[in-house]
Amino acid sequence: MTSMYIFFVCLSFILLLPVRIDSHLCLIEPRQRGDMDISQGGSGICFRHGSPCGGQNASSGPYPKLVAGKQVVITWQQNFNHYTVGYPGYMDIAIAEYGTDTWQLLAFTPDDYVYAQDHQQNYSAIVNIPKKECIHCVIRARYNSHKPGEDTFYQCADVTIEDASILRYESSRPHLPLMSDDKKYKSAVRKLNKLHSLQNNHIPQPIPNVNMSMRGFSYSPMDKTVNFVNVTLDGHVITFGQFNFGLNFKVSTNKKYGFSNPMYIYDKDSTIPAMEPYLLDSIMTVNSFNNMVGILHAGSMDEPSAMYVEFDTHQGTWIYSSLISKYDGYPYNGIVFNENNGFYNTFSLQGNNSHGYEFVVGLLYLVDGTFPCIYKELIRTGPEPLYVNYQWMVMDQKGQRLFVLMGNENTPDKLNARIYRFDLKSNKLDKMVELDVDNYTFMSIHYFEKEGKLYTISPGTWSERSSPKWTLIEVDPVTGKVTPIRQIIDRNYFRAWYGGSVFSGIDQSTGVMYHVLKLKDADANVIVTVDIPNQKVNYSEMVNLSHVYNLALTKYLV
Ligand SMILES: *[C@@H]1O[C@H](CO)[C@@H](O)[C@H](O)[C@H]1NC(C)=O
Ligand SMILES: *[C@@H]1O[C@H](CO)[C@@H](O)[C@H](O)[C@H]1NC(C)=O
Ligand SMILES: *[C@@H]1O[C@H](CO)[C@@H](O)[C@H](O)[C@H]1NC(C)=O
Ligand SMILES: *[C@@H]1O[C@H](CO)[C@@H](O)[C@H](O)[C@H]1NC(C)=O
Ligand SMILES: *[C@@H]1O[C@H](CO)[C@@H](O)[C@H](O)[C@H]1NC(C)=O
Ligand SMILES: *[C@@H]1O[C@H](CO)[C@@H](O)[C@H](O)[C@H]1NC(C)=O
Ligand SMILES: *[C@@H]1O[C@H](CO)[C@@H](O)[C@H](O)[C@H]1NC(C)=O
Ligand SMILES: *[C@@H]1O[C@H](CO)[C@@H](O)[C@H](O)[C@H]1NC(C)=O
Repeated sequence: MTSMYIFFVCLSFILLLPVRIDSHLCLIEPRQRGDMDISQGGSGICFRHGSPCGGQNASSGPYPKLVAGKQVVITWQQNFNHYTVGYPGYMDIAIAEYGTDTWQLLAFTPDDYVYAQDHQQNYSAIVNIPKKECIHCVIRARYNSHKPGEDTFYQCADVTIEDASILRYESSRPHLPLMSDDKKYKSAVRKLNKLHSLQNNHIPQPIPNVNMSMRGFSYSPMDKTVNFVNVTLDGHVITFGQFNFGLNFKVSTNKKYGFSNPMYIYDKDSTIPAMEPYLLDSIMTVNSFNNMVGILHAGSMDEPSAMYVEFDTHQGTWIYSSLISKYDGYPYNGIVFNENNGFYNTFSLQGNNSHGYEFVVGLLYLVDGTFPCIYKELIRTGPEPLYVNYQWMVMDQKGQRLFVLMGNENTPDKLNARIYRFDLKSNKLDKMVELDVDNYTFMSIHYFEKEGKLYTISPGTWSERSSPKWTLIEVDPVTGKVTPIRQIIDRNYFRAWYGGSVFSGIDQSTGVMYHVLKLKDADANVIVTVDIPNQKVNYSEMVNLSHVYNLALTKYLV
């Protein structure tokens, strides 16, 4: 009786609402399946629920053709805004072969707060079509608004992907299709074409040295899954492994990929962590097996927690994770592989309230090659009150010297910095040098073994940030002298963004440094490769790496 009554009340309530169909996402280009109507906000056609395609079946074709390996701009419309204050949602674009469920993430974008719900906004994303022919592939767009009561919205478009070899050379140059009228993208592409024309015989190359490859982790909040990706200089982000942990506070809830709780692997008696593990951003190293090693956080949100985790960069798999025995409870800022002993050196800051912070260099090692790894403190210096902004750390493997770049907390614009040099033979702070940042500021350093020098690229000073020119910089590890080697790129192309450093970013066999830059005119990236000995520079195709973390340069082992 009661439930009948409630049912009746609810029904009446719904019927009393003004008749309007809430509507949310339409895929414009390539055009979505079925009908299309974006003439006004609230179009019923944009209101489709149900994975994967909002209940729309594929037509029988023929489908619009895309070229394997080429860039296109995908355009969609948020036809109604459901921004959720405090828990904003997002939209993403992915591709899969028809009839499969292996979606490869192409783009995602966070929701915008526009206050009014009745709001139409077009979004476009530059994406790289996978380098694989496909007679029937599906491009899927989703909008998950996080708004209570709103399910995820779906649209799909059917496409055919053709082999690039059918095109003549001129038209195989990367291009934006005519479907985009976006002035910013056009300007970005024009500028990039100009840069490429400065490069001799520019042909998009996946990577300058066939033995090297860039690897990282991509994350879409929609899937809550971290993907292992291959990033190539012809602009591709190729997924080849998936893990069900999160990334940098973005916790996974996906149980599909069988990453069993690592807490249980080596220590069955440990307590259940308060949350699922997540991989920490901006801390990574590459070991001599060419595996990537990072740190997983697997405890409560409010406590530092550190677990060792190792990934196979060839298979795209997770190999080990291990609790760190004798962990001292301080978060690691940096980790670096040490070829001398096959273990890892860590760096952490440890509080000493009245005097500043102590700098601690540690060692993560294994006994008899068996996990768990054990932490051991090697060097403690300080306290240091001012130079407490950890920025980057690299190792001179032969000399067993560790270089740590630290910024001055009180000069956020001038960016005063020091290099602390630790001698791992005597386990002592060897030297501390103040860097000359009058003309060049930077937030990472790489050690080039053949030259015995540190290198980086710099956008100049903070005051030049609206229009930075980028310069290859050499830093003398003994004196700290900062010498500009060659201007890499003129003003007006890229932003003054300090986040583009790549782990193990110098190919030691050739002296080519890899660095990610952010375009000025579009929210996308270009990877610059700088040949240090010959002072030559190449620029990759445009690629959006906003969702890629912990990018590292790795070797192929043959
Ligand atoms: C889609 O195809 C299925 C099975 O062929 C059919 O049952 C369903 O009615 C179709 N849906 C639409 C919207 O045409
Ligand atoms: C979105 O793009 C379509 C197709 O180019 C265009 O007709 C429409 O005016 C655009 N809408 C908005 C709100 O920009
Ligand atoms: C790049 O990706 C970010 C989010 O990952 C998105 O906000 C942005 O619109 C994308 N840019 C382009 C040009 O596709
Ligand atoms: C990564 O990209 C390189 C260069 O295109 C390619 O040779 C290699 O096979 C790719 N690896 C994977 C795992 O996709
Ligand atoms: C790539 O590796 C192979 C095998 O180790 C080596 O013979 C070759 O010289 C390397 N190529 C480059 C460009 O380093
Ligand atoms: C803090 O620094 C002072 C001065 O160097 C030192 O005497 C003291 O032992 C340090 N305290 C801790 C807890 O490390
Ligand atoms: C910085 O640049 C100015 C102007 O080009 C030059 O005079 C000065 O010597 C430079 N300073 C250093 C330390 O190189
Ligand atoms: C630049 O590209 C050419 C081929 O296009 C290649 O031979 C060269 O090694 C590349 N140099 C760098 C620094 O990437």
